[in-house]
Amino acid sequence: MYDTYLEAAIGMAREAGAIQLAAFRSGDLGVETKSNLYDVVTRVDKECEALIARCIAERFPEHALLGEEGGQRGAAASEWLWVVDPLDGTTNYSQGLPVFTVSIALQHRGETVVGVVYAPWLDELYTAARGGGAWLAERGKEPRPIRTAGKAEIRTAVLATGFPYDKDVNADNNLDNVERILPHIRGLRRMGSAAYDLCCVAAGWIDAYWELALHEWDVCAGTLIVEEAGGVVEPLRTDRGVSVLAGNSSLVGALHSYIR
Ligand code: IPD
Ligand code: CA
Ligand code: CA
Repeated sequence: MYDTYLEAAIGMAREAGAIQLAAFRSGDLGVETKSNLYDVVTRVDKECEALIARCIAERFPEHALLGEEGGQRGAAASEWLWVVDPLDGTTNYSQGLPVFTVSIALQHRGETVVGVVYAPWLDELYTAARGGGAWLAERGKEPRPIRTAGKAEIRTAVLATGFPYDKDVNADNNLDNVERILPHIRGLRRMGSAAYDLCCVAAGWIDAYWELALHEWDVCAGTLIVEEAGGVVEPLRTDRGVSVLAGNSSLVGALHSYIR
């Protein structure tokens, strides 16, 4: 039902990924800061969003676009909205660390119907169309369905999280959650791309993930991918941007008393 859109999203993600790989570790990234010293952007973030915006405008001129770098544009009254993070994990990317992704989602009347997350260095392509399951195409392999991990016990779980960019001026910076949960789990990771964290939950590499103060473009595609993989993505709070807790439903239920 959404095949045309899914194929288009995959094509755009792979093209953006190629731009990212071409400049990765080149020392020619044009790094600048945005909201503060910790929030960085490169010329590659902008080039990738420009490419994706151009493709959407050419193929789907009646659709709207919300992109991290360029904001909302396109047909304002459209029922179709593309939600795009052209490079998720810019801190990693600017440091030469290999976990970074392109995240592209399509919403119809506010419901996400397509989600694609591509990690070009790892060559992992995660995809979902509503009702069609979640899929992973790894380097040189045929796409295969993915499912969230089945662990229900906190003490064997490996979790991922992240920290907000305003951590220096706002004490509500997730350290309280880390302090409460860390003694009770097998391990905690900070991978540096919210979209990739969600895909790791979808594939069962990570048992659960939470983060505060995200934006719609960080989580839109990854949320559909987790849900189509049998997991849940629950809102954590309403007062700290987009704040999510993702995993299988039993683990997420058990984690709510530690993570808030
Ligand atoms: C960031 C990454 C990071 C998360 C930040 C996001 P960006 O996105 O997803 O993992 O901790 O909150 O803003 O800035 O690299 O697109
Ligand atoms: Ca992001
Ligand atoms: Ca980004």
